[in-house]
Amino acid sequence: MISRLLFGVFTAASSAVAQTVTYQAESAALSGVTVGTSVAGYSGTGYVEGFDTATDTITFTINSTVAQLYDLQITYNGPYGDKYTNVVLNSAGGSRVSLPATTNWTTVPAGQGLLNVGSNSIQIQNNWGWYLIDAITLSPSAKRAPHQVTTTLVNKNANADAKALLSYLGSIYGKYILSGQQDRDSLDWVTTNVGKTPAILGLDLMDYTDSRTSRGASSTEIEKAIAFSKEGGIVTFVWHWGAPTGLYDTADHPWYSGFYTDATDFNIETALADTTNANYTLLMHDIDTIANQLKRLQNASVPIIFRPLHEAEGAWFWWGAKGPEPAKKLYNILYDRLINMHGLNNLVWEWNSVKAEWYPGNAVVDIVSADTYSQGDHGPISATYNNLLALTNDTKIIAAAEIGSVMEPAQLQAYQADWVYFCVWTGEYIYGGTWNSVDLLKSVYSSDYVLTLDEIQGWKSRNATARK
Ligand SMILES: *[C@@H]1O[C@H](CO)[C@@H](O)[C@H](O)[C@H]1NC(C)=O
Ligand SMILES: *[C@@H]1O[C@H](CO)[C@@H](O)[C@H](O)[C@H]1NC(C)=O
Ligand SMILES: *[C@@H]1O[C@H](CO)[C@@H](O)[C@H](O)[C@H]1NC(C)=O
Ligand SMILES: *[C@@H]1O[C@H](CO)[C@@H](O)[C@H](O)[C@H]1NC(C)=O
Ligand SMILES: *[C@@H]1O[C@H](CO)[C@@H](O)[C@H](O)[C@H]1NC(C)=O
Ligand SMILES: *[C@@H]1O[C@H](CO)[C@@H](O)[C@H](O)[C@H]1NC(C)=O
Repeated sequence: MISRLLFGVFTAASSAVAQTVTYQAESAALSGVTVGTSVAGYSGTGYVEGFDTATDTITFTINSTVAQLYDLQITYNGPYGDKYTNVVLNSAGGSRVSLPATTNWTTVPAGQGLLNVGSNSIQIQNNWGWYLIDAITLSPSAKRAPHQVTTTLVNKNANADAKALLSYLGSIYGKYILSGQQDRDSLDWVTTNVGKTPAILGLDLMDYTDSRTSRGASSTEIEKAIAFSKEGGIVTFVWHWGAPTGLYDTADHPWYSGFYTDATDFNIETALADTTNANYTLLMHDIDTIANQLKRLQNASVPIIFRPLHEAEGAWFWWGAKGPEPAKKLYNILYDRLINMHGLNNLVWEWNSVKAEWYPGNAVVDIVSADTYSQGDHGPISATYNNLLALTNDTKIIAAAEIGSVMEPAQLQAYQADWVYFCVWTGEYIYGGTWNSVDLLKSVYSSDYVLTLDEIQGWKSRNATARK
């Protein structure tokens, strides 16, 4: 679910200079709701109450003489407990906004929106209902301050290849976005049908560990990584880590979905509680197995953006099933073991959850990222970008590690959503036509803002042909 607002820029009708304006709810178009005055402290001549049906709305009409990005705030009262409202700009997209319980009039941020020149609408839709709306306020969004990100790797022993990779990402951050595609076959489909080759290839360490190879799985992802690196591309690896034991292996939950929480009774919390536990040993064995594969990349001079324990905060993978503490503990063990026991210095460490309580910390993370799927929505995913920015106080580069629908370059720039790369998921997501049309892919891939394989040649030596 995306939390982009599509409300656009307004200005006061008399002026082309954007300014902060408050719009009273009682003066807007009301449907299924009424004006109230009994709860004191509101602004204007009243507030709007009676949100109790799915179709209840307030619609604000906002004329704008310029196109500009605005911050939206909602002033409300919440005497009936924690609620959500839905905010929609110009009848498209929509964003769920939290309205925590309060017994006084309170103003909360409600996202950003790009107003079009001319008439725009902002609609507040019922969602959970049972709140009182006083007003909305639109303020021109501040131009983002220059980024403060570090391009020094957290691993003090990082090799020259890894250093070149993070340094290159830093050189383009905020200026361009690298195109990326998960899976070699899907990447080749892009080359054939879109006419450009993505700069980044996404691969998976999934089929190297024992609980899968013992059931017939095999992998050539390392060979694919080395080949794409020779083509001048950048490689990123995720790891759909099948639980080492405890797989249900039933028709509903087959062994090959053994990375899902609901496909195994493997318990990360008990496994990590005691280093003499047999299941702790199995986890270490899997890490060592993966280390041997990663060493082949190091030996071949291939640095990678490494994204283990991805989407932990979603809890749908076993490493996130017991909350943040065991997930962070496993991440730290993995980090320490790969670097200090196995001497792996070709990794750029990418974390992939947004919530602060899940974050393993700036000392063990080079890049932060999120995975976002919103079918047919080509917006900039700016609310998630802003959350990641806040997560590290803008000290780490930010990536869109998995997406379904590609982001429009013009919106990325308008919303200042400076994702360093995007990586579209495989199969139907890229070629099915519902998540992305070929025409849109062609327009995205031909944008000056979007870097493709041909445009990053020489990135490792930072020589003249690599755009930066
Ligand atoms: C917005 O502009 C249109 C003309 O472009 C005008 O008819 C309308 O009254 C304006 N609405 C507001 C709320 O200013
Ligand atoms: C606002 O509401 C909160 C909780 O509902 C309450 O604790 C607080 O005292 C109120 N503040 C004012 C200024 O009324
Ligand atoms: C290891 O995990 C399996 C699968 O969840 C479980 O059945 C077993 O009891 C665990 N072993 C220990 C020693 O905790
Ligand atoms: C390391 O790379 C060299 C070529 O650069 C190759 O001959 C050798 O087999 C590789 N070793 C391993 C362990 O992959
Ligand atoms: C965030 O970064 C800014 C700019 O570098 C700095 O002034 C501020 O103290 C930082 N805040 C935190 C919480 O680290
Ligand atoms: C620039 O990069 C290209 C492609 O990787 C390479 O062939 C060439 O030797 C590099 N030139 C310099 C001066 O490093």
